[in-house]
Amino acid sequence: MSENQTTPVSELENHVDQQVTLTGWLYNSRAGGKVLFLVLRDGTGLCQCIVEKGKVPDETFEALKHLGQESSLAVTGQVRADQRSVGGCELAVTAAEVICPTADYPITPKAHGVDFLLKHRHLHFRSQRQWSIGRIRHTVIDAIRRFFNDNGFTLIDTPIFTTIVGEDQTSLFEVDYFGTPLHLTQTGQLYLESAAMSFGKVYCFGPTFRAEKSKTRRHLTEFWMVEPEVAFIDLPGLLELAENFVSSIVARVLKDNRTDLETLGADIAALEKIQPPFYRLTYTEAVDILTGPKANDFLAKQLQDFQNTKKELDTKIADLETQQGGQMKQWKKDKIAAELIELRSQLSEIDTKIENNPKHAQLAADFRWGKDLGGSDETIISLMHDKPVFVTHYPKQAKAFYMKTDRANEKVVENFDLLAPEGFGEIIGGSVREDDYDVLLDKINAEGLDPETYDWYLDLRRYGSVPHGGFGLGVERTVAWITAEKHIRQCIPFPRMADKVYI
Ligand code: 4AD
Ligand code: MG
Repeated sequence: MSENQTTPVSELENHVDQQVTLTGWLYNSRAGGKVLFLVLRDGTGLCQCIVEKGKVPDETFEALKHLGQESSLAVTGQVRADQRSVGGCELAVTAAEVICPTADYPITPKAHGVDFLLKHRHLHFRSQRQWSIGRIRHTVIDAIRRFFNDNGFTLIDTPIFTTIVGEDQTSLFEVDYFGTPLHLTQTGQLYLESAAMSFGKVYCFGPTFRAEKSKTRRHLTEFWMVEPEVAFIDLPGLLELAENFVSSIVARVLKDNRTDLETLGADIAALEKIQPPFYRLTYTEAVDILTGPKANDFLAKQLQDFQNTKKELDTKIADLETQQGGQMKQWKKDKIAAELIELRSQLSEIDTKIENNPKHAQLAADFRWGKDLGGSDETIISLMHDKPVFVTHYPKQAKAFYMKTDRANEKVVENFDLLAPEGFGEIIGGSVREDDYDVLLDKINAEGLDPETYDWYLDLRRYGSVPHGGFGLGVERTVAWITAEKHIRQCIPFPRMADKVYI
């Protein structure tokens, strides 16, 4: 069947009262005596197809009636406008052809465990959530490229096999490169700095590897990072660039993926607030917040809210369990069972939050100036704000060697992390780079790195060194924040995690 003979579901509204053919997969179906309601999924949307007995040959009706979830098929019929239908249209079927009938599709509409779904990611892609997240990821990536391409940046592809340590020496993936040990890139930044001295404004965008053992919802071992680098820029200039950049991504998703955001239950009103200027705190101010009464009061109030939510959930669950005991139709039973699965999973999340709250309060209270902010510290700061927060000027010892020492306060560096609001934490890390040859060489030595390996990097400070800087934004963390998805493993097609690679 050639493409021009079929109509995408997303274009049905332009074909009302016309005859069209749709091709796709059976998302779900319901039989009501002499009529079948088939929901067809075609990659562009969902369409309810109505098959009435007598309007199609009897054998077609019977075949469709017993068709399993995810069978592939082509259906032909009349498009009818119907405001109650998803997408605003439905199809009155007059002919159908089953392409591949399917029985026992492993992923049913009832809830499955996370492990099971990750092992079936190749099929789980077909679910509404994965579909919406995938489309939003696509928009985010397009918006990233659009922003830099429209603002005078040149794309520079940096290598994946590298000789240098970009970030943390403990998170390197070593590879045997024809007998020479190399590692997979942790950042393209150092190479990008050399390109910035040629092109002025550059960016790289690609997969990034970190052998991080931390099995948190925010860490993958393979993730996608976009990194801009700019010659002749200072810290305020970088913050401005970052807030315009992030705001442009959110605006694009709001424009292109509103239905997907609704499907995912994302907080659209909160996303609409994402506009410059973002909040700005120094690290020292952030530490004062964490160790002072503000964070303490905030966490106490949060605990109270969690306990209230827990009570509400307990009541709802008890209520449904009582209902479950009574007589009712099968579909109602299934509905209650599905609701219970969802509520119990919410309850277990709240229990974890109630358990963690005092631990996080303790960590915050005990925080001492000098350490890097931990995940829970970032969560507290970001939860206390309704827009992203820049935290700037971290202690020198907590950050990477290439960050520029603040000449006004040599204990700190001219850097920033951008924390996404409402508990999502760091989505960007960036800094002004050390541009003085001697200071940089000292830092390379202090870090225990071999100055020979970094000789080319030092060349950039020998020949026409200029103030410059940049940052890196993690794609999966950004998608997780925008889609309100808790775990970033849901925001990359085939996730690689410290403890598991599924398929
Ligand atoms: O803060 P990071 O480590 O910064 C750099 O790599 C700099 N060289 C970037 C630069 O200045 N050009 O990482 C940047 C971002 C983080 O804020 C986070 O969003 C993401 O990359 N990231 C991860 N995402 C998923 N899993 C991980 N293990 C990640 N580590 C960092
Ligand atoms: Mg960082």
